[in-house]
Amino acid sequence: MTETEPLPADRLPQHVAIIMDGNGRWAIQRGLPRLAGHRAGTENLRRIITASVEFGIKYLTIYAFSTENWGRPPEEVQGLMRILEDVIDKELGELHKEGVQLRHIGRLERLDPKIQEKVLNAVELTKNNERLILNVAFNYGGRDEIVCAIQRMIRDGVPPEAVTVDLVSQYLFTAGVPDPDLIIRTSGELRVSNFLIWQAAYSEWYITQTFWPDFGKEEYRRALEAYVQRDRRYGGISPVVSSGKSDAG
Ligand code: FPP
Repeated sequence: MTETEPLPADRLPQHVAIIMDGNGRWAIQRGLPRLAGHRAGTENLRRIITASVEFGIKYLTIYAFSTENWGRPPEEVQGLMRILEDVIDKELGELHKEGVQLRHIGRLERLDPKIQEKVLNAVELTKNNERLILNVAFNYGGRDEIVCAIQRMIRDGVPPEAVTVDLVSQYLFTAGVPDPDLIIRTSGELRVSNFLIWQAAYSEWYITQTFWPDFGKEEYRRALEAYVQRDRRYGGISPVVSSGKSDAG
């Protein structure tokens, strides 16, 4: 497939999720403070959002701040909070114009009330946009999400026999969003890092050595091209290449 050839729309992932890793190492390689890496990563995120709209991706989920990231030095935590605020202050109007619907996944409670309000306003403003649904995972952890779902099910008095895969999915922060088809992780780490651990049961992965600030539109396209070649079997056997061997994938 050449760079100018259109991607096959019928085989593209509907939902792409990204672990935007490597900002710190990108900065350190350049003799810069880690926060400069997060700033560069934020600029790249902007490019990837626009590229997602252009490629026709329907859902994009980005891992911006995990429940474990509170353990980072206070200045880095504060810096990431400021970045969230800046993105809303400076980019919201343009994102709204581009037809991006912003959603938040994770817990808002621990964030500064001013930031909570900005997030809620951004979600409200963009709620009818349909071009791209952008889930921002901020103060998000997959285990925390499952705990929260169980607590809510118990509070709602759900009887044990009514607990099904579909019901649990409906109690997650991502309720109503299809599971990610493709998860991209930059910077070469081979970990799930508590990201969408329920939803990723049958996601395809694309792992690259590239640090997040350098993961541009061209490599994004290559990730999508790699995805369209995949044979997704969901634990079954491929209807095309059925070898007769048992297969766990
Ligand atoms: C992981 O890189 C990255 C993060 C913990 C933060 C990602 C956040 C952004 C790209 C900013 C976008 C944010 C918002 C709020 C929309 P790392 O710091 O762990 O990198 P390292 O492994 O090289 O140290």
